[in-house]
Amino acid sequence: MEPIVQVRNIYKDYNKTEVLKGISFDIFKGEIVSIIGSSGSGKSTLIRCINGLEKIKNGEIIVDKKVVGDSRSVIGKVGMVFQDFNLFPHYTVLENIVNPCKVIRKMNTDEAKELAMSLLKKVKLEDKINEYPKNLSGGQQQRVAIARALSMEPEVILFDEPTSSLDPELAYEVFNTMKSLAKEGFTMVIVTHQINMVTNFSNRVIFLENGKISFDGSPKELMETDNERVKQFIKMIAL
Ligand SMILES: Nc1ncnc2c1ncn2[C@@H]1O[C@H](COP(=O)(O)OP(=O)(O)O)[C@@H](O)[C@H]1O
Ligand SMILES: [Mg+2]
Repeated sequence: MEPIVQVRNIYKDYNKTEVLKGISFDIFKGEIVSIIGSSGSGKSTLIRCINGLEKIKNGEIIVDKKVVGDSRSVIGKVGMVFQDFNLFPHYTVLENIVNPCKVIRKMNTDEAKELAMSLLKKVKLEDKINEYPKNLSGGQQQRVAIARALSMEPEVILFDEPTSSLDPELAYEVFNTMKSLAKEGFTMVIVTHQINMVTNFSNRVIFLENGKISFDGSPKELMETDNERVKQFIKMIAL
């Protein structure tokens, strides 16, 4: 089976500071990969590279058999959900999904509306379609962002700390939405500090340390590892 994402020995720096130092891994259909690691270890940079939002210095990223160039090269293949939601503030919930479907997927208004409604139902927001983002809770905004990412029918969805700016109760709503996507077989990469996401529905965990992968295995293997740094980190995020 061909991997959906191939990351091949990538290097990335910002003004000569090397952030990613030779990272390689493949992601296969249906995998749910958590990426963990200390703040500043390069997690966001890594997934921004996969999404073509950052240019790499060396190496290669291949998504769906094509080399990733800029972010346009992965439109429709890679979806992204950010920590701070990134909805269009001047569009309603419905328009946040309908407009990209029309512009990017060239759908007509009826098709776009039908798809948007079905996705908003999936994330349990069918009663909020005419609201503006500022009138929604953070958890609701994040679920709109998830629905919008799904509307592009991507091969893989990248989440960058999707629940980090939410209160526990709202984080739980988003967590549940993500769990149901996991059950449906979506391919997901999740940067997270939540040990729950790692143990509850990921089937693989990558630990980034200092721009390199220092662990890549199942959640069970993670819990049983002898790697002292990883053990220490797990203890810390389990608090
Ligand atoms: N746009 C940028 N310009 C300069 N340095 C950056 C930029 N983005 C991230 N960095 C630096 O790269 C390192 C990794 O950052 P990041 O990928 O955001 O880490 P993480 O998501 O794991 O916290 C940090 O030292 C950060 O300060
Ligand atoms: Mg980050």
